[in-house]
Amino acid sequence: MDTLSRFFFLLPLTLFLTLNPSQVLSANETGIDLIRKTCDHTLYKSLCMSSLQSDPNSLKTDLKGLATIAINLAKANATDTSEQINKLFNTTTDPFIQDCLTDCSENYADAVDQLGNSIAALDSKAYNDVNTWVTAAMTDADTCEEGFTAEPGHKLVLGDRNTVFSQLCSNVLAITNLLAGA
Ligand SMILES: *[C@@H]1O[C@H](CO)[C@@H](O)[C@H](O)[C@H]1NC(C)=O
Ligand SMILES: *[C@@H]1O[C@H](CO)[C@@H](O)[C@H](O)[C@H]1NC(C)=O
Repeated sequence: MDTLSRFFFLLPLTLFLTLNPSQVLSANETGIDLIRKTCDHTLYKSLCMSSLQSDPNSLKTDLKGLATIAINLAKANATDTSEQINKLFNTTTDPFIQDCLTDCSENYADAVDQLGNSIAALDSKAYNDVNTWVTAAMTDADTCEEGFTAEPGHKLVLGDRNTVFSQLCSNVLAITNLLAGA
């Protein structure tokens, strides 16, 4: 994505976060209702529901716990994509694709680190830092995707992994935004 399309990609998220001043979710609330209410504040609700519910701990935890789980899910997804990139590297002899995959491998390694940092920031309630780290991780996925689009026909080498990862990160930002306002 170039800068302009990144702007339009992030614009709805920004508007969304601005137009939805976080409603206070009761601090002790847990369970499926909390998951549903939380996901209602995200842009990708069904992904939010299905991903959070894939971790049974999300039924027993509060909003902060959900934020931690959401970050861990995004981190696991980035780790999984890193492994996929390594596998794909050996299946192609196309130097363009190999270059892209090499770059993407670094992008996703950075994303995994940044999400690790965001968990530490969340633990110390440094919500602005969480925002910064998670946004940086999203940008890594954009950069990876951008590499492939430089030559036509290669956009889908990683399938929709970059998109889904960005959506997981977007959901994290919406959840931590709720937490920051709670
Ligand atoms: C890719 O190939 C290299 C060299 O042939 C090998 O060392 C490496 O283990 C392979 N990686 C995977 C993920 O198969
Ligand atoms: C990450 O997301 C991709 C879809 O983009 C999915 O195929 C993969 O299973 C996910 N991996 C993990 C560990 O969440």
